[in-house]
Amino acid sequence: MEFIDVINERYSVRGYLDKEVEAEKIEYVLKAATIAPTGVNYQPFKVYVIDTKKYKDELSEIYGANWFTEAPYVLCVVALRDKAWTRPWDGKNIADIDATIVMDHMILAATDVGLGTCFIGAFKKNKTHQFLQLEENEEPVLFTPLGYGNAEPRDTPRKQLDEFVVYID
Ligand SMILES: Cc1cc2nc3c(=O)[nH]c(=O)nc-3n(C[C@H](O)[C@H](O)[C@H](O)COP(=O)(O)O)c2cc1C
Repeated sequence: MEFIDVINERYSVRGYLDKEVEAEKIEYVLKAATIAPTGVNYQPFKVYVIDTKKYKDELSEIYGANWFTEAPYVLCVVALRDKAWTRPWDGKNIADIDATIVMDHMILAATDVGLGTCFIGAFKKNKTHQFLQLEENEEPVLFTPLGYGNAEPRDTPRKQLDEFVVYID
């Protein structure tokens, strides 16, 4: 797919078919994570690939929407804060930015091969720590289901360029 088609066709898929995803498609999506840029190339992240059917109860406690557990897989990107670059002069740790870029790469790759996804930020962090047995400096940043979509996009109007572009000239 052309790049512009990929970014136009991605939308938050809030309904999935009970249909297996081919192994090569999962690999394609995960490989996109390895291409993602990270600060100083430290690559301070992990990607958890969760078997939805096996862990439906745990996942439902993490994020309650029914459609969250419909696809065969749920992905979670975890930021490794102690392995990320920190801006020395003001202490900003960029692990969450790195993790977000990783998730975006995977989500766009999934779109490219006809799979549906949805960024999920409104999950329960404590439940996630318990389920994935994370250390304190490991921060779950985003989830997404990964599977064949079974829902139309919502109406999500976007701002016009002149509403957010600020030229400093
Ligand atoms: C960082 C981030 C977190 C999000 N978290 C959620 C979420 O927890 N639940 C949900 O249903 N959608 C979530 N969304 C999806 C947004 O609501 C959606 O991207 C936005 O409404 C635009 O719609 P579109 O993705 O269909 O273009 C999130 C999106 C982003 C970028």
